[in-house]
Amino acid sequence: MKKKIMDKKTFFKLIKQGIPKELPPAPKKNPNLDHAPAKKHNLTVNEKKLALENALRYFPKKTHAKLIHEFSEELENTGKIYMFRYKPKYKITCRSIDEFPHKSSKAAAIMLMISNNLDNEIAQHPEELITYGGNGSVFQNWAQYLLTMKYLSVMTDNQTLVLYSGHPLGLFPSNENAPRVVVTNGMMIPNYSQPQHYNKFNALGVTQYGQMTAGSFMYIGPQGIVHGTTITILNAIRMKGKNNKKLKLFLSSGLGGMSGAQPKAAKIAGLLSVTVEVNKKAIEKRHSQGWVDVIISDLDELVVRVRKAQELNKIEAIGFNGNIVDVWEKFYAENIFIDIASDQTSLHNPFDGGYFPNKMSFGEAVKLIKNDHIEFKKNVQRTLREHVAIINKHVERGTYFFDYGNAFLLEAKRAKAEILNNDGGFKYPSYVQDIMGPLCFDYGFGPFRWICASSKDSDLEKTDKIAQKTLEKLIKSCEKEISLQMRDNIDWIKSAKKNKLVVGSKSRILYANSDGRIAIASAFNKAIKKGEIGPVIIGRDHHGVSGTDSPYRETSNIYDGSQFTADMAMHNVIGDSFRGATWVSIHNGGGVGWGEVINGGFGMVLDGSKEAEINLRDMLHWDVNNGIARRSWARNKGAISAIKTAMKKEKLLKVTLPNIVDKDLFKDF
Ligand SMILES: NC(=O)c1ccc[n+]([C@@H]2O[C@H](COP(=O)([O-])OP(=O)(O)OC[C@H]3O[C@@H](n4cnc5c(N)ncnc54)[C@H](O)[C@@H]3O)[C@@H](O)[C@H]2O)c1
Repeated sequence: MKKKIMDKKTFFKLIKQGIPKELPPAPKKNPNLDHAPAKKHNLTVNEKKLALENALRYFPKKTHAKLIHEFSEELENTGKIYMFRYKPKYKITCRSIDEFPHKSSKAAAIMLMISNNLDNEIAQHPEELITYGGNGSVFQNWAQYLLTMKYLSVMTDNQTLVLYSGHPLGLFPSNENAPRVVVTNGMMIPNYSQPQHYNKFNALGVTQYGQMTAGSFMYIGPQGIVHGTTITILNAIRMKGKNNKKLKLFLSSGLGGMSGAQPKAAKIAGLLSVTVEVNKKAIEKRHSQGWVDVIISDLDELVVRVRKAQELNKIEAIGFNGNIVDVWEKFYAENIFIDIASDQTSLHNPFDGGYFPNKMSFGEAVKLIKNDHIEFKKNVQRTLREHVAIINKHVERGTYFFDYGNAFLLEAKRAKAEILNNDGGFKYPSYVQDIMGPLCFDYGFGPFRWICASSKDSDLEKTDKIAQKTLEKLIKSCEKEISLQMRDNIDWIKSAKKNKLVVGSKSRILYANSDGRIAIASAFNKAIKKGEIGPVIIGRDHHGVSGTDSPYRETSNIYDGSQFTADMAMHNVIGDSFRGATWVSIHNGGGVGWGEVINGGFGMVLDGSKEAEINLRDMLHWDVNNGIARRSWARNKGAISAIKTAMKKEKLLKVTLPNIVDKDLFKDF
């Protein structure tokens, strides 16, 4: 049953109250929600006391004697103190900005975004404040949520809220053009950035895994990932598809927060797909949304269904409830040719429920995580070795396999699977190396998204039209190298409404380069000024040209050694913050694992003002060209060409260009 939205006055009062002085009723787990798998904390007795002391500092002293036992139990039972008792009783959902108490409309826009990320119908594990990716947290606990919302409700445009991994340090005086919120998630001293450190410091309540758009409040439901996956699969099949049959087959795993996008994207791209998922709850959710057409749990039945679909040329999204390795093996035995394939289990978090071993049931595996972590880890690594072995056999038959940014290659290597070439490099590319890097990121194409702060469908429709018209105008004079990307995104926005991808906030995504993003944002700002639409929040995923340093993903097509540095992401977020971003965020972790990536993002509120116009031009230009300049310095051909074009268009832009060394000079070395 849907929860009724409470009346505005009571809701305002509760938000402004922050952490209640009196104890709310004892917590009850909602059995209808998907809960995060319990972990075993690795704290010593003294560290456990520290975790409890850390948690209790949010609450009045008089409540401590009661809460200490409850929190101690939570820590033992779930591996973390979430403070379930303090989850608000009102429905957390993205109301329009006017429906949040505020003194700054920008702060209200941020409340809208936070609420969207924590909505029961959107978040993966809403009671544990996790939006997606198994551990992508918005906050570490409910006290942080309550306090943050209270601060946002009272802040003015002369204050900035500082968030340390979900913890609101406080409001600090600043100025109107400063960001209203600065977010950091999981930033560690580098030597303390290994997975075991994360488990410890997260259990202590001093750091969190913000993933990419979870802890930066930019999650817009599965639409973002459907778009990115569609573009990836579309280009993968164009570039690498080998068979001549019309209907091509895509195999992958995972129907969770992000991975759930795969069947939908495959359908939009015109492919037959099989997506394998071990967790019944997750597969049923996607089935109820219509993203998988059918759920099959018998391997023989699956083979029949695939053959039939190919015979009939029927584009179908098949969900298989089971283990991905079993399906790879069955298809090999049955001689089913897989055209393109990937994997989207949560391998950035392999030993705490991100990747499930074969040869045991899902229920047995969940128990093993808690009861015998070492044995669970052994089984994960054994399964990974088998997983790679069977992929290798399919690839010999002509399948194109790519890593889709879930740390598959990295974890397979750590598990000692046959994943390396003789030269020590990986056998398979990351999708960025082969596809997204050279086609999109090097030219500045990356995720650009917007959210209508009025929460009105009609505003979203109008913005869709504005974006389409803007791109259709730009494509007429764009460089040849980028016209295919422009075309794909015009096609995307034309059918965006029909694809029914909006869940929660009224938002949209497309890929555009610097010119495209600026032109669209400016057109929105003009429409807002004229009163045609309400305010619009613009932002992006962290998965793009400039916000993210990730050597096995976003920056995996950088080959000058600098793929292991994180200067670009740091500069990106600092640069955005003084060019008018409404909020900025910088994270350790992201999609590929703790210590493996630094990624940054921003949000900007367009309100139709002159200042918004100046800010959007200034900030979006930097936000994209910072990344192109770095890619160009790494000698990426497309990026060199793109930055030269950018310099011709903007005379104030002066970028250091690389001199290319003649390879013949190395023949004596
Ligand atoms: N390339 C990208 O743009 C991109 C974007 C988002 C996420 N990711 C990465 O993809 C991964 C998945 O993200 P998510 O948000 O969907 O995570 P998720 O945890 O919500 O979903 C992963 C799903 O895989 C299932 N699974 C695990 N092991 C399995 C197995 N052996 N066989 C079948 N199913 C299995 C899990 O039950 C889970 O439902 C993460 O590592 C994430 O970081 C990549």
